[in-house]
Amino acid sequence: MDGMVPAGTLPSPLQSAANLAYGPRLMTASPPPRTFHVKSFGCQMNVYDGERMAELLTTEGMTAADVREQADLVVLNTCHIREKATEKVYSDIGRIVKEGRREDGSVPLIAVAGCVAQAEGEEIMARAPSVRVVVGPQAYHRLPAMVAEAAAGGRATETDMPAEAKFAALPRRRKVGASAFLTVQEGCDKFCTYCVVPYTRGAELSRPYADLVSEAQALVEGGAREITLLGQNVNAWSGSDNRGRPAGLAALAEALAAIDGLERIRYMTSHPADMDDALIAAHGSNSKLMPFLHLPVQSGSDRVLKAMNRSHTAESYLRLLERVRAERPDIALSGDFIVGFPGETEAEFAETLQIIDEARYAQAFSFKYSARPGTPAATMDGHIAPEVMDERLQRLLAALQRHSLAFNQASVGKRCTVLVERKGRHAGQWLGKSPWLQSVHFTGDVALGDLVEVDLVDAGPNSLSGRLVEIAAG
Ligand code: 5AD
Ligand code: SF4
Repeated sequence: MDGMVPAGTLPSPLQSAANLAYGPRLMTASPPPRTFHVKSFGCQMNVYDGERMAELLTTEGMTAADVREQADLVVLNTCHIREKATEKVYSDIGRIVKEGRREDGSVPLIAVAGCVAQAEGEEIMARAPSVRVVVGPQAYHRLPAMVAEAAAGGRATETDMPAEAKFAALPRRRKVGASAFLTVQEGCDKFCTYCVVPYTRGAELSRPYADLVSEAQALVEGGAREITLLGQNVNAWSGSDNRGRPAGLAALAEALAAIDGLERIRYMTSHPADMDDALIAAHGSNSKLMPFLHLPVQSGSDRVLKAMNRSHTAESYLRLLERVRAERPDIALSGDFIVGFPGETEAEFAETLQIIDEARYAQAFSFKYSARPGTPAATMDGHIAPEVMDERLQRLLAALQRHSLAFNQASVGKRCTVLVERKGRHAGQWLGKSPWLQSVHFTGDVALGDLVEVDLVDAGPNSLSGRLVEIAAG
């Protein structure tokens, strides 16, 4: 992708091959920021990137501000997947300028990162003069240098998508929570016709095996007991193990399972086409791999699935589930759904409701179709009226809620291990996650990061209540 500042405004010697574009020095210089606030929107991969940006800024000597209004630097780590997510960025920029204005009239330095930065960097710079840094998801290791440039009175944009650089340039992980994210794969080659990800995040790229094992080790040393492996198509991860043999996600999970102190491994998001035999088998053989699978189907209609360029049918998806359940009968299934894809008829929507009943989701995310400029679906015929989408979404949510409740109710009476993740709202109350990624609240004398035995005693669609049994090993 080309520089995001109109070519005419670029001082040409500074337009480097790395696509680092500095705008004209129209802004006033300000003291280098000492405090920062990173706000991440969207998916877990953005949460991971946001954490890494915060670590990077900390390494540069800055400290995290307790409240955003007091931060000298605000990083908006944005999401571009649906129109609403993009609009939020502009309203947030306005709010930061208004609420963050100091007595001397100065405003915090604003950096826009993430997928909106990648896709609309030029527009952001033009529409929002208060934004001083625009940095794409593959370039955020350059954030400190860009912030310094902006503080010196410039504007900096970098949205190039080099294949490697970023991860190697980031500092080693230190202190993390009990449950940590680890991005193992980025980008997507699937080109679902509604989706911007292949354009904003680029082609599929797997991080090297050895780097991942070493980052996982650092996370565990930093306090993690659970690691969720992340990727837009995480199960497309591939690499070579430390003996040079080809490795897929199952082999990577196996290597991570050997790390002492790491108790739980999860992964998301998976594409049905990349669910290979080894990964299915791993659900039966790798005891640290949690019984949870986020496997979006998007629609239950074969006509719609084809128009979406998904490579599965309703039937092939259900057969795949059968194979996973043969290995792990209790697996908690999660999914994503889009209602109101262009041309979706009432009968086709009914097929989505049907697959929900057949697949039995423990939880799911559902979205109204949102036309994204530049994607093939945006120019398809038969866009669905907003009120029809609303109505379908309500029916979809009701169906999904029925299944979440049923799944959670079926867990009542079970004893399971819960990873304590945060304090609850009431005194002595704690919240944690079951192996099936259910939120469980209970009271007792425990600490953050403990793995404790809990009897599940009551269930709602979104959480369960439990009774603490005893503190498990560790
Ligand atoms: N409109 C609505 N939902 C979308 N998703 C991706 N693109 C769109 C879009 N244009 C949903 C898909 C995907 C999830 C991350 O977001 O369900 O799995
Ligand atoms: Fe988007 Fe499809 Fe790739 Fe998922 S698999 S990121 S929905 S293009």
